[in-house]
Amino acid sequence: MIFSPIQIANLNVSNRIAVAPMCQYSSVDGAMTDWHTQHLMQLGYSGAGLIMVEATAVERIGRITHHCVGLYNDFCERSIKKTLEKARLVSQKETAFGIQLAHAGRKASTQRPWEGRKSLSKEEDPWSTKGPSSLAFDEDWHVPETIENSDLENIKSKFVEASLRSVRVGFDLIEIHGTHGYLFHQFLSPLSNHRSDKYGGSLENRMRYPLEVFAAIKEALPTDFPIGMRITGTEWENGGIDEQEAIIFANELEKIGCHYVCVSSGGNTPNPKIPIAPHYQVHLAKIIKKNTDMVVRAVGMITDPIKANQIIVDKEADMVAIARGFLTNPRWVWDAAKILKHDIKVPPQYARKF
Ligand SMILES: Cc1cc2nc3c(=O)[nH]c(=O)nc-3n(C[C@H](O)[C@H](O)[C@H](O)COP(=O)(O)O)c2cc1C
Repeated sequence: MIFSPIQIANLNVSNRIAVAPMCQYSSVDGAMTDWHTQHLMQLGYSGAGLIMVEATAVERIGRITHHCVGLYNDFCERSIKKTLEKARLVSQKETAFGIQLAHAGRKASTQRPWEGRKSLSKEEDPWSTKGPSSLAFDEDWHVPETIENSDLENIKSKFVEASLRSVRVGFDLIEIHGTHGYLFHQFLSPLSNHRSDKYGGSLENRMRYPLEVFAAIKEALPTDFPIGMRITGTEWENGGIDEQEAIIFANELEKIGCHYVCVSSGGNTPNPKIPIAPHYQVHLAKIIKKNTDMVVRAVGMITDPIKANQIIVDKEADMVAIARGFLTNPRWVWDAAKILKHDIKVPPQYARKF
């Protein structure tokens, strides 16, 4: 059931509920702030077995907005370490914290969602973006510079560096952001990757860069350090990544030592036809689970505890990740435990019975 533990490489996760990574757009020059402290402290004692820290940029120009968290210098690193230590102070000792490492590629240099989510204008201190090809995400978005081979090496080394910083900071797990239209998704998708070198064209070529970076990170990390990727199950577009390509990519990740995938979708095109409804991506997780031995996490409008539990019971996925559900109800896990009649530990300060 959803409250049973699960092993991800050498990490024992106390239950199968993850807080999905959620950008807070509340950083100052890449560093976490008091907002992150309160955010991660309240999630720290939420009872979720795994708490994923938001998409964290491996280089400054890889941030989505001016306000995204980064892990590309000592200043950012110290702020994250301090925040994580505070979150751990109020969480159960078995609560695992993971960090999602990301590069926004052509989707960098934008406004925050509540400011309009558009590309930054000249007055908003924009920066030049980079992508696999010089193709903008949408009309009026920045046209990225094509990433040259020397820069591919540079970005790879930034991912390795940020991964080593993540271990030093004290995270239990690293997740590479491979979906939602960010850099690795841009390489994987024929819709955003029109390269004619060994990184474009066939699926084998489009997968090459994300896999090379993943392998480099693996090599740098301590043996068996828990690591996974958030991947695209489908782009919901004709001619885009589909379930079959997702299976092949997941298999390749597994071959190079990936321990888990979280299966999401879309984000690389402005208007995909997504059949938004509860559990709308669970079938994608199920397809990947059928075809790999990695731990598979499902995400997307999973809110009802009984139905969430059923995903695990029916073996459609090994874990569930919940994002907005935790924003509206940080006590989701406590409520789920009550509904599913499972005993959980809550902080004694809050454990008063009515
Ligand atoms: C405020 C907010 C920020 C998000 N930031 C990230 C992020 O940093 N990385 C990521 O992979 N997904 C991000 N997402 C997507 C969520 O992780 C999740 O996949 C999506 O919201 C669907 O899950 P839900 O229906 O439980 O909200 C974000 C979603 C929200 C609502």
